[in-house]
Amino acid sequence: MNFTKDDILKALSTVQEPDLHKDLVTLNMIQDLQFDEKLISFKLVLTTPACPLKEKMEKDCIQAIHEFISKDISVKIEMTANVSSNRSDKLVLPNVKNIIAIASGKGGVGKSSVASNLALALAMQGAKVGLLDADIYGPSIPMMFGEMNAQPEMKNVDGKSLMLPIEKYGVKLLSIGFLIKPEQAVVWRGPMVSSALRQFINDCDWGELDYLILDLPPGTGDIHLTMLQIVPLTGVVMVTTPQAIALADAYKAATMFSMTPIKVPILGIVENMAYFVADELPGKKYFIFGENGGQRMADELKLKLLGQIPIYMSIREGGDNGTPAVFEKNTPVQKAFFELAENVAQSVSILNAIQKN
Ligand SMILES: Nc1ncnc2c1ncn2[C@@H]1O[C@H](COP(=O)(O)OP(=O)(O)OP(=O)(O)O)[C@@H](O)[C@H]1O
Ligand SMILES: [Mg+2]
Repeated sequence: MNFTKDDILKALSTVQEPDLHKDLVTLNMIQDLQFDEKLISFKLVLTTPACPLKEKMEKDCIQAIHEFISKDISVKIEMTANVSSNRSDKLVLPNVKNIIAIASGKGGVGKSSVASNLALALAMQGAKVGLLDADIYGPSIPMMFGEMNAQPEMKNVDGKSLMLPIEKYGVKLLSIGFLIKPEQAVVWRGPMVSSALRQFINDCDWGELDYLILDLPPGTGDIHLTMLQIVPLTGVVMVTTPQAIALADAYKAATMFSMTPIKVPILGIVENMAYFVADELPGKKYFIFGENGGQRMADELKLKLLGQIPIYMSIREGGDNGTPAVFEKNTPVQKAFFELAENVAQSVSILNAIQKN
């Protein structure tokens, strides 16, 4: 054989991780390297299974080996992921790598729809995902997942009684809707709400998760402040619709999250109901509420536009009957949610990499 392991690593060190701007060998992304004269095989360990650039990196690796080792050798790459995290405190939710809140200034802009479909899209790509409905007064996750009658079981762990999330479609769910009837919550006062939220965080067995998604209630009220105090958030995803008023409210909420002492990074903005697509003409976009509002707001706040979700009948229907729209194969809505999941995962990976350095 006229090459060594070092030669292969040297070849692969010419390949960059496009987001993290370092090479794959330095980032320790090449593992289990094996080779003989005919075949080089290794694992490429990504920082998220929802990496939008995985095909590019795979292609770049093959090209580098053909260029620097031999153009006739076969290359076998197994793509895996070890989701990154930068949590330093491990007092709460120690086995959860990243906690992402879905927020908005205005109500009814589609936070719960986005949270549900985003959680599912991440899980469909292979991540371990949980979804916590933090909307104590108006929980919608049980209905969106068709689990209106589910009741979480209790489990004894080291003498402590812990609640087990409900598992549906590969995502772990908790919501006040599993515990009480909607009418009951309406009379709850602030301290009861905070203690319910604390229990969801501290007295539940979430297990190991790559991403825990929090579906927040609208606005900038008490629940938000409680949440920000008890949960070490990785970042916030802001949802808005294109109308001017929704944008103004989202702007206000974005300001709340970026204020000290809260200061949670905002991962970016999702423009929901960005345009309408009809089933008969899936290629055509109708910008009912105006075009590019989300992009303008993102530019103004110097944030990333993480996704644009169309107005789509099945988002509402699926939300009402418990089969989320992201499951509909090869539709504009599935494509939009997959893109959103990739962009969110990518932003988290970049944030984790920056904060580690
Ligand atoms: N892109 C969309 N296309 C069609 N219907 C949608 C879309 N997004 C949300 N909806 C519908 O709009 C309604 C409000 O959405 P959702 O409950 O997700 O909003 P929300 O921001 O969580 O509301 P709240 O502030 O009350 O918590 C629901 O009936 C939902 O099915
Ligand atoms: Mg909601």
